[in-house]
Amino acid sequence: MDPFASPHNLDRQLHSLLGEASSNLCDWLADSGFQGPMPDSFELPEVAPREEGVSNTVLLKELQLLMNGAYRPSHPGALAHLDPPPLSASIVGELICAGLNNNLLAQELSPSLSSLERELCKWFCDKLGLGDLSGGVAASGGSLSNLMALVMARNIAGLESDPSAVFFASDDCHVSLSKAVRIMGLRQESIKRVPTDEKGKLNISCLSSTYKKLISEGGRCFAVVATAGTTVRGAIDPLSEISKFCQKEKIWLHVDGAIGGIYGLARNTSELVECIGSADSITINPQKLLGIAKTSSLLLVANKSHLSSTFSTGLPYAEPLTGNDMHGGELGIQGTRSAESLKLWIGLRQLGQEGIDKILLDSIKRRCYLESLIDLTKFKVISGPLHLLALTPINYNSSQASNWSIKTRNLLLKSKFMLSRPMYRDRYYLKAVLGNPNTKFEDLNFLASLINGSIID
Ligand SMILES: Cc1ncc(COP(=O)(O)O)c(C=O)c1O
Repeated sequence: MDPFASPHNLDRQLHSLLGEASSNLCDWLADSGFQGPMPDSFELPEVAPREEGVSNTVLLKELQLLMNGAYRPSHPGALAHLDPPPLSASIVGELICAGLNNNLLAQELSPSLSSLERELCKWFCDKLGLGDLSGGVAASGGSLSNLMALVMARNIAGLESDPSAVFFASDDCHVSLSKAVRIMGLRQESIKRVPTDEKGKLNISCLSSTYKKLISEGGRCFAVVATAGTTVRGAIDPLSEISKFCQKEKIWLHVDGAIGGIYGLARNTSELVECIGSADSITINPQKLLGIAKTSSLLLVANKSHLSSTFSTGLPYAEPLTGNDMHGGELGIQGTRSAESLKLWIGLRQLGQEGIDKILLDSIKRRCYLESLIDLTKFKVISGPLHLLALTPINYNSSQASNWSIKTRNLLLKSKFMLSRPMYRDRYYLKAVLGNPNTKFEDLNFLASLINGSIID
């Protein structure tokens, strides 16, 4: 069999391979509810290529082994992480993206798709209120979007060669910021950690006083990172106050909205991230809640020329563009990259505004419902206004809480509920992320009864 599709005739072998593979995928999805989120065990297919290539029948069998051993985000009990099931249109978008194999590096390698990415980023910017000069770029994940934002902020501040330059972020900021400082050649102390209040939100007066102290000692700061949706409890830093502070002190404000930024798209939830549009840059991850197949993250900026002034090196091997548009590879760290906006665009088109509103609102309703069922005489529950909550036994010390978390996670897995077990403030919690649209209130009744029963009076 020719492994490349004919450019002249309908390739019947590809046609049937795609048909069979799609049908197996649909079966796998349909079977998810009868399995658990995690497979009991799995078998890997042969990994190294043989001397001669294998047939399509063998390929499909081997693919099935991997599918059997995969995590199942569609299972109603898959509640551990920010990994919802994919929208059906998004699956198709990913398939077509692979078939087109365009490259977002340069306009000539992806004419329609480069334009789609620009327009889609602009749509997101407008929805979030980033203003007339705004634009963005897609990135393979929120960690990369955060890294690019920090590199850009430091560059715009003119501090790119200053190893003592710092930025501020709350104690609960995401670990991707620690990774970013390593890549940027900074020390971990370059992250000036600001304490949070009892709700997990950055304490603005501590930000202000530590900043003043830094400046009085001759220090230099290139950004404040506010988190809209912290990883363990979904807290949202006080965006309005932080933005006023940044404007007054003329500091770049980056909002890490990998989790919560998406709530800015819906009519009923946008006030949760009020003022997000006053940021200089925003990370937003449609993969985390909207069901866009991974990876799907955008870095949005209030002034899109900051992206090119930071990352553009010239692309001497691609045709220059006329007008103000830049090649995709000139707007960020990545060179060659796939057209991730395709599955995002098609997913959003499938949902429509009503569908987007429903996904976002329902996720919060599920969190509120589960929270209302937890026995507060036994558990401390921490959550913000979004779709995450975490809980830990009230009357246990940290070592007892650790044992409880291991035992209870395993017990829940036996009943096909998967929660995660984050360490937060020196103590283990169990965390539920209620972004799975297949989870019904009856499932949550059962889950709550198991959790409440995990501590015997
Ligand atoms: C608040 C926050 N920011 C950034 C990230 C990083 O996103 P990614 O896993 O897509 O790199 C995460 C991941 O969970 C997150 O919770």
